[in-house]
Amino acid sequence: MQPRLQKKFRRYDWDRAAEYYQKYWQKQLKPAQDKILQMANLRPGERVLDLACGTGLVTLQAAASVGRRGRTVGTDISEMMVQKAAHLAEQAGYTQASFLRMDAEKICFNDAAFDVAFCALGLMYLADPLQALREMRRVLRPGGRAVAAVWGQRSKCGWAEVFPIVDARIKTDVSPLFFQLGTGDGLALHFHMGGFEEIESTRIATRLFYPSAEAACAAVFQGGPVALAHANLDEPARSQVCKAYLESIESFREGDGYRIPGEFVIVKGRKARQIRPASN
Ligand SMILES: C[S@@+](CC[C@H](N)C(=O)[O-])C[C@H]1O[C@@H](n2cnc3c(N)ncnc32)[C@H](O)[C@@H]1O
Repeated sequence: MQPRLQKKFRRYDWDRAAEYYQKYWQKQLKPAQDKILQMANLRPGERVLDLACGTGLVTLQAAASVGRRGRTVGTDISEMMVQKAAHLAEQAGYTQASFLRMDAEKICFNDAAFDVAFCALGLMYLADPLQALREMRRVLRPGGRAVAAVWGQRSKCGWAEVFPIVDARIKTDVSPLFFQLGTGDGLALHFHMGGFEEIESTRIATRLFYPSAEAACAAVFQGGPVALAHANLDEPARSQVCKAYLESIESFREGDGYRIPGEFVIVKGRKARQIRPASN
């Protein structure tokens, strides 16, 4: 599929998922998001960009840390995600937080406009994650830091069968490189290729708990990146994919619920404090 068309599908997938996203993923993603914020060590007054911000789970915590003297901007390709995030920021009274619809591979901000750039669980969905990291570096001031999290190795993510199960019925284009960044030193190498220095990488093992089969299915089929593909299936096909997915996570069943293993990789890098002249 052409990248532009793929991006359009991705955008509508996440528009569909926006309504269910926090219900099914807020708790599950918290360990990775907390680690990002811990590694960034935000200070009052700092300017923060949060790429692929979703409903603003990281952006809003960052807004609390940088305070009124600081500024946080969350950007996302999905209009519905950005609208939800802006609404939550308004409810929380965070006038220092704003949200814009924007492609992570083409950031519309000036060079050196931010102290910190984040991307939490977003890079796996991009056709060119390296381009996004280069853009993150460009908009950081010298000495600024970037922190990103991705899902880890496929074999450590018990929910991974969802992609082939949906792909067997309708092409989604989500899966081919999804776990590439989380395997080995993939993400750290991308930071290196993106021009970052002082790179630190950490891996977290986690468990995604869902209290019922319905919740486990809704998380992946309604609250995630295959939401549009799933919505386009007819009723019998929806039951089939749900049944196949539950079979794939059967070994993680605990009573009525599921405790599914997962893994996150979180990497931090710094833009050089002094810009060196390019070597020939
Ligand atoms: C798993 S959610 C993560 C949201 C948020 N960062 C969090 O930690 O909760 C992935 C997000 O990536 C966004 N996304 C996907 N492709 C994108 C792109 N090319 N540019 C910007 N955002 C994108 C989706 O719209 C979605 O909100």
